[in-house]
Amino acid sequence: MTESLHRVVNTLNEVAKTSLVWKHGLINRGGPHRVLTGTMLPISIGEDECAIFGRLIEKFRPQHAFIIGNAFGFSSCYIADMMQHHGGQKVVTLDSEVEGKGQDCAKVARQLANKLELTLLVNKKGRSPADTAWAVETDQHDLVFIDGDHSHPQVTLDFESILPFTHSGTIFVWHDFWWSGILPCLRTAEKHGFRWLWLPTSCEMVLGVRDDAIFASLQKMFPDGVENQKPHSLLLAPTILVKEFIRQAWDAVTNRFSSIQRTVRQIK
Ligand SMILES: C[S@@+](CC[C@H](N)C(=O)[O-])C[C@H]1O[C@@H](n2cnc3c(N)ncnc32)[C@H](O)[C@@H]1O
Repeated sequence: MTESLHRVVNTLNEVAKTSLVWKHGLINRGGPHRVLTGTMLPISIGEDECAIFGRLIEKFRPQHAFIIGNAFGFSSCYIADMMQHHGGQKVVTLDSEVEGKGQDCAKVARQLANKLELTLLVNKKGRSPADTAWAVETDQHDLVFIDGDHSHPQVTLDFESILPFTHSGTIFVWHDFWWSGILPCLRTAEKHGFRWLWLPTSCEMVLGVRDDAIFASLQKMFPDGVENQKPHSLLLAPTILVKEFIRQAWDAVTNRFSSIQRTVRQIK
């Protein structure tokens, strides 16, 4: 688990310049998360959240995984590296390359996967939900990660588009419970027989499954998880977004100032 994380982090540092954000977590203790240096978005999942995937893969040994939202490949490469070492067969990602410098992100994701020799990982460019049925390579995914556009109803559309390609034991993972689109999607999932467990990770991950025995195992593995977590105040998401915008703008100004100071020193 930790070896996979070291491999992915070290190789990412070889192929791209990245910066750490939310070094100690966003909503809960955890992190750090990453961005491509000089960009505000997309932001990767936290290292603490990779560890959750690591534990799921060690325990349930998924053969096929599908990921909506790949960015520069941090989570997909971690998941694929873990699966490659635990008998996995295929990881497919779908990303529309709309966030931040989407094409640069896709290029880094490709380089990272190639350097890590992740032969089971296939990154596809496309938009969920329209391209999901085209992108899948099996109708029996064991692990699904939804981390694309987090607004409502997009998350629900993501979920409904991949649902026909899953089975009762498929474990779904949602990132960013605090965003407005996740809870309505979880309510839809409940109607399809899902139970879900909120986890106190940096950005609040949620695990969901239809199979009761698997759900009981998840509860045992993650005793600090909360089934059916209550929603946050409606003000939380806008407050976080405004704070984040100010923080990133401030970082950009101070970075620019330091680089000017460096240039002046060199000229002198
Ligand atoms: C938060 S980032 C994903 C981060 C990634 N899971 C990681 O941790 O490394 C969200 C990504 O979803 C993509 N995206 C947004 N809407 C999408 C859609 N409808 N279909 C596919 N990808 C989408 C964006 O281009 C962006 O790269």
